[in-house]
Amino acid sequence: MRIHVLPDRAGIGTVGAALVAAAVRDTPDLLLGVATGSSPEPVYAALAARVAGGLDLGGLSAVALDEYVGLPVDHPESYRSVVRRTVVRPLRLDPARVAVPDGTAADPSAAADAYDAAIVARGGVDLQILGLGHNGHVAFNEPGSSFASRTRVVALTARTRAANARFFGGDVDAVPTHAVTQGIGTVLQARRLLLVVTGRDKAPVVAAALTGPVDEICPGSALQTHPDVTVLLDEAAATYL
Ligand code: GLP
Repeated sequence: MRIHVLPDRAGIGTVGAALVAAAVRDTPDLLLGVATGSSPEPVYAALAARVAGGLDLGGLSAVALDEYVGLPVDHPESYRSVVRRTVVRPLRLDPARVAVPDGTAADPSAAADAYDAAIVARGGVDLQILGLGHNGHVAFNEPGSSFASRTRVVALTARTRAANARFFGGDVDAVPTHAVTQGIGTVLQARRLLLVVTGRDKAPVVAAALTGPVDEICPGSALQTHPDVTVLLDEAAATYL
């Protein structure tokens, strides 16, 4: 595991974008795994600046980690909308090459199985960008998720719903109760992982995930078992390392 501590979010963006750009140079038809959340945003912003400067990501495909169950796809906080706003448009990706789990399917579990199978059939994710929740969640894999878990429907914890209420006008009741998420086992099959975490509020969970026991009670600790992980932190998030 390579851990880089950068002075601020701009520094994280620069280093993260350079890493993604180098991966695309090596593998023009890269399958990039994209995370939502505030942590990876500087990486997307710095990549967008490179695209504006001539970097061509036209051969790239992307898959999202997770999606709320039951939010209309055109809701501004559906992850389909968030990915379109923060990734697809700024990076000028072909929308037909970007997949987000379907949280509105009549049978969400069957749709989750199909999503997982499609990733495997595509040969797996080449580079997966990840954030980390306050309780150690990765994607929407809450504490206790099996490290062998695959894409599935999960219930969100009260803490996660409270943390995400900020995207729903502060109304926790407006946050969906369930989500479709790639499993920890699915995430661990990506060839490379890029974990991005910022902020003093994440310092305890960063230390737990990266240096604590490898235990399903902290989903992020599963990353310690992966052979190729790059971690980008700001100084605040690295406080306890
Ligand atoms: C959300 C997402 C995760 C994300 C995490 C942290 O609930 N499902 O994929 O990594 O929480 O988000 P943030 O970076 O905004 O703190």
